Amino acid sequence: MSTNSANNNIKSKNIFAVDHRVDLEERWDGNGHKGGILWFTGLSGSGKTTLALELERQLIKHRYQAFVLDGDNIRGGLNRDLDFSPEGRSENIRRIAEVAALFSDAGQIAIAAFISPYEEDRQIARTLRPDLFHEVFINSDLAVCEQRDPKGLYKKARAGEIPEFTGISAPYEEPANPELVIDTAEDSVLESVYRLMDYVGSEFTLQGQVKEVA
Ligand code: ADX
Repeated sequence: MSTNSANNNIKSKNIFAVDHRVDLEERWDGNGHKGGILWFTGLSGSGKTTLALELERQLIKHRYQAFVLDGDNIRGGLNRDLDFSPEGRSENIRRIAEVAALFSDAGQIAIAAFISPYEEDRQIARTLRPDLFHEVFINSDLAVCEQRDPKGLYKKARAGEIPEFTGISAPYEEPANPELVIDTAEDSVLESVYRLMDYVGSEFTLQGQVKEVA
């Protein structure tokens, strides 16, 4: 397993990637389940963070190794230098994709919750660990997200106080072929988390082992 990224614009010269002396399968055996990346994409207010945090809680309760990477949190730290321009968003997703890939290399289930509005950026994220990447479309109509407006941002965006706001003055490209679609306008948080737990139960279970998921 090489940990070098798919990015071929590497500025450092004379670097030599090393292989770990622990196989991914050994890590999975230790954890009792596979690792990978659950990539949540959707509009602001669609429920990404709510579902990611509840899924994480349930997974930990059932002794899975899982960790949420969330847009608002990461943009306050690692990605504090980035804005919401198309370039800023692409760089945001590129860095998170690398971090999520590292988490999955560590055997964890990384739950990445980012608007990630551009199909191309999500495809790049997938190419880092194609076999371990699961795109989850957190689907909710713009009208519903705008009505929920948990942070009051849609109101501000409509008033022209937030430029380049996704869904209002910046695009959101819906995933063409996500592994899973969660309709949060239709289903409750509980129903959605059950579906996600079911998905983890079928996709992250080691062969021949049954792990309780609910
Ligand atoms: S992404 O587009 O680059 O993937 P990310 O998920 O990291 O976005 O951050 C989105 C969060 O930033 C939103 O939930 C919202 O709280 C906040 N935010 C602030 N400005 C904007 C904006 N112009 N567009 C979208 N979200 C914004």
